[in-house]
Amino acid sequence: MTFKNKKLLVTRRLPAAVLARAARDYDAMLNADDTLYSAEMLLTKAQDADAALICLSEKFTGEVIAALPERLRIVSTVSVGTDHIDLDAARRRGVRVGNAPHGVTIATAEIAMLLILACARRAPEGQQLIVQHQWEGWSPTFMLGQRLDGKALGILGLGKIGQALARRARAFDMEIHYHNRQRLPEAEEAGAVYHASTESLFRAADILSLNAPATPATKYILRAETIAWLKPGAIVINTARGDLVQDADLIAALKTGRAGYAGLDVFEGEPNIHKDYIGLPNVMLLPHMGSATIEARNQMGFEALDNIDAFFAGRALPFAVV
Ligand code: DGY
Repeated sequence: MTFKNKKLLVTRRLPAAVLARAARDYDAMLNADDTLYSAEMLLTKAQDADAALICLSEKFTGEVIAALPERLRIVSTVSVGTDHIDLDAARRRGVRVGNAPHGVTIATAEIAMLLILACARRAPEGQQLIVQHQWEGWSPTFMLGQRLDGKALGILGLGKIGQALARRARAFDMEIHYHNRQRLPEAEEAGAVYHASTESLFRAADILSLNAPATPATKYILRAETIAWLKPGAIVINTARGDLVQDADLIAALKTGRAGYAGLDVFEGEPNIHKDYIGLPNVMLLPHMGSATIEARNQMGFEALDNIDAFFAGRALPFAVV
């Protein structure tokens, strides 16, 4: 089904296959040079649009949503996260919101596994030695890390990504522990040990992976008070959202060795990251690359487009948020 009479605002340069589908089925307004739209530019572009296909880089605040034109009644985001959209404002304004919940799963679980391995085996320090011409040769006690088998991986948020990470970690013979607000059915737990509280999970984990969405309840869930629950030298992984971590507290813990290593793909206020992460030896820092595979980004784009197609076809949104 095509909707050539509908103007679709596409806010970022998406993979070619996604743009081709958008241009085939809609009167698509593309962003060929991938300019990052300010709120003002976003609203100017949106004035002619019936729908918006957006990314997490576009902040749909209450003010932006209130200023959208009457004709724009659906916003679909090429992301699983929706923390860049004021969902209450969308509800009040009668704007439907959809997301892309599945495409990110495997790619993000893979990047979490990459960070776990890199931190456990001290890969960032190894690379630094080489690029700084400081490697003096092999020695039996040089650059000792730790094996993953038998280690407790604590997953905060055993949703789709958390479960995909757990499957991968089981292949490394890790023990899986998790905390969710609600205990999962046995089939989804797949043998993972449930912890009824965050504290209990943090105390059990050799490696803690944050996989929960950014909500008021998870804001700064890792902070001095909760870092104190971790085992001394525990590894912390964050592929979810930067808002879950109080950066200054984690940096202080990394400096004293209270936290052994941190593997971080997301940061509060990104792309501006806390300056004190830079130069720490015991961190692996990535620029929000969790879902950066062509397979993931194509699927994410298609899922987000499926929402808009369904909206104009008068069907239920397959991935409805609002
Ligand atoms: C998401 O989908 O929310 C991811 O953070 C994008 O990489």
